[in-house]
Amino acid sequence: MTGNDDLFSKLIKVECPDSTYRPRSNPIVLARGKGSILFDVADKRYIDLCAGFGVLAFGHNPQYVLDLMADKGDEFPPVLHGLGDVYPSVDKIEFLTQLFAVLPSYLKKAALALTGSQAVELALKTAMMKTKKRRFLAFEGSYHGLDLGVLPVTYRDDFRAPFSTFLRDNNAVHLHFGCDPSAIEQQLKSACGTDDAFAGVIVEPIQGRGGVRPADKQWLKTLRELCTKYNALLIFDEVFTGFGRAGRISFTDDVAADLTCFGKAVGGGMPLSICVGSEDAMSAWPTCESEALHTGTFFGHPLSCRIGSATINQLKNADVINSASKLGESFRALLRTLLRDSALFVDVRGIGMMTGVQFSGDGTGAKLMDLLRVEGVIAIPSGNQGNVLSLTPALNIEQALLEEAAVLIQKCVKTVRQ
Ligand SMILES: Cc1ncc(COP(=O)(O)O)c(C=O)c1O
Repeated sequence: MTGNDDLFSKLIKVECPDSTYRPRSNPIVLARGKGSILFDVADKRYIDLCAGFGVLAFGHNPQYVLDLMADKGDEFPPVLHGLGDVYPSVDKIEFLTQLFAVLPSYLKKAALALTGSQAVELALKTAMMKTKKRRFLAFEGSYHGLDLGVLPVTYRDDFRAPFSTFLRDNNAVHLHFGCDPSAIEQQLKSACGTDDAFAGVIVEPIQGRGGVRPADKQWLKTLRELCTKYNALLIFDEVFTGFGRAGRISFTDDVAADLTCFGKAVGGGMPLSICVGSEDAMSAWPTCESEALHTGTFFGHPLSCRIGSATINQLKNADVINSASKLGESFRALLRTLLRDSALFVDVRGIGMMTGVQFSGDGTGAKLMDLLRVEGVIAIPSGNQGNVLSLTPALNIEQALLEEAAVLIQKCVKTVRQ
């Protein structure tokens, strides 16, 4: 059993039906990769315009990661697992030191986890402990993960519906993303001083899975002012955008969020996520003198931290982020030119190396994903109607690969059926 179909059939027999996307035809099983090129088990080549949901800032198997993983011949190599919240590893301490060297100085304390959802959960818990309140204001189109603790703030009802009886306290209110600040003020003001007051406002500076929708900087600044006025914490969710994807390390350089969440790129391909906050916000947590109030067996995993430190180093050493932004801009310009005559084409937007191509017709992005796979391009849909093609390649993808992929996207757009 070595071909794509055979291996996929094997998977279907043993995996929960919800765990892996099952295309109607041409399933693939990925096998090998370097940079922005992948091969499936049948040795078919793909240009990767997804980079593991934006995780792989430097593509597959970058040399700095291979070097770190190489056997150095030590009799006692660095620990692979210490005792997370009990006895810390050198790698965790080094990672946290590197982290704060690239963040604005008002951010002082961090809590580590493994996934984006877990980082958001940490932020929600922090805000609840700090304010002693339980409700959150979030925005339409937002995606903050699918764990039970964060489902209330993630926008889509279909993700919540099967669990609605468990989530019935409905602790989140969703307003239009980019709405008139008066609508936000009205919510915060009317609840202020009551048991229903808001613990925090959570926002993605650029909605990623919502369809690559950037927030206006001034709007984010107004959120800051309103949170201060009504004693709610401002929480940024930079899980997708953080650490280079959106042309910068963090939006907290511009707007002082009380808490921000990182995931994806910061671990360089390893599971690592972070909730970072101001001293004031993070002081809500008690000092751990016996058992931690919030921890997990693998939180602050040494190998993730080691690769995370090296990834931050890579991002800050070279002019990677600026070059990626320029490349992203020229990619968007090329896509605009190639697609402008298509009746389905609506818009190309994005920032840094984060691009969304919006089409008319629900599900067009999803249909394109299937066509592109056959043409040898990996890309996924986004947007609440699946009408956006989300393109988040490695920051160091070669221009020639972007050009090759753009032509294939044009070809698929010509053949996609409504
Ligand atoms: C903005 C944002 N927050 C949170 C998450 C959840 O991250 P994870 O899937 O690692 O739990 C995602 C995942 O796409 C995301 O884009």
